[in-house]
Amino acid sequence: MSAALKTEVPAKPRHFLELMDLDAASLRHMLELGKRAKRGEIPGKPLAGKTVALIFEIPSTRTRVSFEVGIRQLGGEPLILTTRDMQLGRGESPADTARVMSRYVDAMMLRTTDVAKIRELAEYSTVPVINGLTNVSHPCQLMADMQTFEEHRGPIAGQVVAWTGDGNNVAQSFIQAAARFNFTLRIATPDSLTPPAHLVEWARGQGAKIELMNDPIAAVRGARCVVTDTWVSMNDEADGAKLNRHNLLMPYQVNAALVKQAAPDAIVMHCLPAHRGEEITDEVMDGPQSVVFDEAENRLHAQKGVLLWALGLA
Ligand code: CP
Ligand code: NVA
Repeated sequence: MSAALKTEVPAKPRHFLELMDLDAASLRHMLELGKRAKRGEIPGKPLAGKTVALIFEIPSTRTRVSFEVGIRQLGGEPLILTTRDMQLGRGESPADTARVMSRYVDAMMLRTTDVAKIRELAEYSTVPVINGLTNVSHPCQLMADMQTFEEHRGPIAGQVVAWTGDGNNVAQSFIQAAARFNFTLRIATPDSLTPPAHLVEWARGQGAKIELMNDPIAAVRGARCVVTDTWVSMNDEADGAKLNRHNLLMPYQVNAALVKQAAPDAIVMHCLPAHRGEEITDEVMDGPQSVVFDEAENRLHAQKGVLLWALGLA
């Protein structure tokens, strides 16, 4: 093949869809970029002249604002869109949307309740696509969570993290993170809300230590980090099972008695928004072990690492 012909093959965009799609070294690189961003060590305006579309099918506070502010701080132009204002919201395919948007913008972020949509968007996009939450994952959140753990407690490799509650999208990204960042993950859920078996098998196949159980006390015992999330995620809101979930999940509440079972210096994380008095008590959320607002802040920094990597700028 001649060199000229080779250059006609477009490079595959650096999508940030799932942690499992990316190798540990690339994720570590992004995480370290995020830490540098927080320390003010990203010089200049690396995103100058770049437009990033932020597309929301469902609501967001942190993802929307942290991406918008972060892109501006890096010198780029965020373009906030909701699918209600787009033809995507009335049936234009993700594939055609990708083909069109790729001609206008330098990268796209999508938040959707249907992972198939972001996969199709990425397949047809010639610019990087970033996952801003789906029904099965929330990888940007995990980058912020890894940054938060390491800034408070040092390297996460070899540590024990305990998840208690619903085996939801964030839990599923935690499983992927355990494989890529090499920590032990104990997950306590009721049987009906365990994370998908195929994902657990994948992670274990990668050498990850994933322990599934029903007992939240067993899960948090001695753990350095206790994590939970809402009992009813945005993609569950239509399933009519809210009351049932509340009954099922009350024993998994992160309260002072549960946190006492963790390591004495354990930190408590929650991606937010929290439902105080449900999955986490006020006492824990506002207590000395809670790092939930650092975690929210770190979305801003960690996503700068993701953006710089995705756009091939660092
Ligand atoms: N944690 C998180 O993604 O929050 P938002 O839904 O507010 O974006
Ligand atoms: N699991 C939650 C996370 C919100 C950021 C949801 O999907 O609603």
